[in-house]
Amino acid sequence: MLKRIVVLVSGGGTNLQALLDAQARGELTGGAVVGVVSSKEGAYALERAEKAGVPGYVVPKKDYPDHRAYSLALLERCRALEADLIILAGFMHILTAEFVDAYQNAILNVHPALIPSFCGEGFYGLRVHERALAYGVKVTGATVHFVTAEPDGGPIIAQRAVAVREDDTPETLQRRVMEEAEWKLLPQVAALFCQGRLRVEGRQVHISEEE
Ligand code: GAR
Repeated sequence: MLKRIVVLVSGGGTNLQALLDAQARGELTGGAVVGVVSSKEGAYALERAEKAGVPGYVVPKKDYPDHRAYSLALLERCRALEADLIILAGFMHILTAEFVDAYQNAILNVHPALIPSFCGEGFYGLRVHERALAYGVKVTGATVHFVTAEPDGGPIIAQRAVAVREDDTPETLQRRVMEEAEWKLLPQVAALFCQGRLRVEGRQVHISEEE
């Protein structure tokens, strides 16, 4: 049985596209993207979903009185879609403990830095790269991790390093981290999850060999 993947997005959705492309190439072995849920109306990610024939839904943040109500609405949508795996792909909101507990070790996030650098509350999108450049790091990258109630604090599954160039701007660095790291790592980790090859033991994530 294929694992049912639901992808949560807030914007452009290039990471969603990487997942859809991997699926089209037959590389998302063991899983299928069955729904895309956006926190914003008009997010380009929804067009990407439509083009791929995947149903898109909007659960707008602004329609809910508080964070808890919003998280519950998202949880309801994921349950209605019978999600086995939830992927945060450029999803710009933090999920409550209630949500995370309902999908323990079954939510993935891609973060555009090498955690524990440049992560946690307030570190998202272009800001992460602005902060990395301002700090003067020579190497950055991307991390795919399981989601817990602590922002960007869950067990790390995979990381890939990307060299910073002398003439990088936040935009050029963001693009290279996506191309060289995020768009490759995220579909690979999603496939590992769907094949049942990830085992979590405390903070350690073990990856088993292909059968
Ligand atoms: C990506 O770089 C993703 O890692 C980052 O936002 C961008 C979304 O791009 N996510 C975060 O910063 C979450 N903390 P996309 O919508 O084109 O995939």
